[in-house]
Amino acid sequence: MTPRELMAEAVKARKRAYAPYSRFPVGAALLTRDGRVILGCNVENASYGLAICAERNAVWKAVSEGIREFTAIAVTARDGHGAPPCGSCRQVLYEFAPNAWVYWRDARGRILRRRAHELLPSPFRLKELRGR
Ligand code: THU
Repeated sequence: MTPRELMAEAVKARKRAYAPYSRFPVGAALLTRDGRVILGCNVENASYGLAICAERNAVWKAVSEGIREFTAIAVTARDGHGAPPCGSCRQVLYEFAPNAWVYWRDARGRILRRRAHELLPSPFRLKELRGR
């Protein structure tokens, strides 16, 4: 699956976003190592702090279905634009797939890409910090 195809899946996911408070729908499409695509959208709540981002929603869905190996994720926000993942989502992506490609788009709609680990310098790693 190409970055462009994965981005098209993220656009579909964005249509399902529930974002009446921010009015900022986001869609994500997570590509699993075995070639499946898991969609995620942001889901907000009247209690604002409970909102979940599109990227983490996709990861939670995948992991809860027994899938933990990912090779890429595409994210899109405004029409024709992407949105690089927020800090919390970077930490979550790093946990499962530090080498996964993260795709988003610039203002001209071109797809930008970085590895998850490139987006999170100095990640929080419990194992190392604990010393075992
Ligand atoms: N949001 C995402 O879905 N992904 C991100 O990486 C950043 C922010 C959502 C959360 C909230 O519903 C809305 O965008 C505005 O912050």
